[in-house]
Amino acid sequence: MDLRGKSVVITGGGNGIGLALARRFAAADVRGVVVADLNGGWASKAAAALEAPALGVACDVADPDAIGRLADQAEETFGPIDVFVSNAGYSDPVPGDLDQPVDRWRDIVDVNLLAHVWAARRVVPSMVERGGGYLLQTISSAALITGPSGPGYTASKHGALGFAEWVSLNYRHQGIRVSCLCPNAVYTGMFGRQPGDDSEPPDVGSLGEILTPESVAETVYTAMTGDEPFLILPHPRVGDSFLRKATDYDGWLERTSGRLQRMRGD
Ligand SMILES: NC(=O)c1ccc[n+]([C@@H]2O[C@H](COP(=O)([O-])OP(=O)(O)OC[C@H]3O[C@@H](n4cnc5c(N)ncnc54)[C@H](O)[C@@H]3O)[C@@H](O)[C@H]2O)c1
Repeated sequence: MDLRGKSVVITGGGNGIGLALARRFAAADVRGVVVADLNGGWASKAAAALEAPALGVACDVADPDAIGRLADQAEETFGPIDVFVSNAGYSDPVPGDLDQPVDRWRDIVDVNLLAHVWAARRVVPSMVERGGGYLLQTISSAALITGPSGPGYTASKHGALGFAEWVSLNYRHQGIRVSCLCPNAVYTGMFGRQPGDDSEPPDVGSLGEILTPESVAETVYTAMTGDEPFLILPHPRVGDSFLRKATDYDGWLERTSGRLQRMRGD
């Protein structure tokens, strides 16, 4: 996709990967960037600092009506939405357990999975009418290769990948492109980093290499303006592990289970 002149909406854009994406898109000569976040102050601050026409909006993506209002505001301000980035997400306690309260399970599914559904339901029909559009879904390596994340995170991210695959299969021929960003560790709010924190990524030991959100945003930009791949893997080893899992699922489960137990000192 040629991003020049396009209108972009990014959820969870007040911090971390979403904020870096907002900055990268803003530098690409887009028509407008709408930064949405649960933290409305972060969204406004991020939008005000972008070098492009931008709007900051407070939005809880767990609420389908709020996503509808976000899309309405984006269209009123910058016209039809060309790129919708479903990026907002959060992690449950690690390693977590099966006994988490029912509401916790529902909350994480609402944000990490169903928000992608509500956004697609709202924006895909008008994208199809106009001949195409782009959905960028920030998912996780946890959707491809279950790792040390909590159970709600793992299950909701697998669901989000399945939904993205469904949209891609069913709307591809109508011009809808779908890319799933599936990084491993990235130095963001998930590692305690807040907007304005310029510190270097810490050593995360057994988690492997921790990338900056800026480098992830650059990888996304190159992918979207290049081959528009379904999977965007800023950590290449995620793709290697996914391949090993696909060719020997049971062996992969055995080895990964042992590795997780060693990591946790069991
Ligand atoms: N950081 C990592 O290591 C990593 C790895 C793989 C995937 N991811 C994914 O990247 C995405 C962005 O996370 P991040 O790492 O930048 O973390 P982050 O905490 O820095 O950013 C997430 C942003 O989403 C916002 N948010 C949370 N719940 C929301 C809601 N209900 N509605 C609207 N906004 C909400 C937060 O306020 C925050 O600004 C998430 O989907 C996450 O699962 C992160």
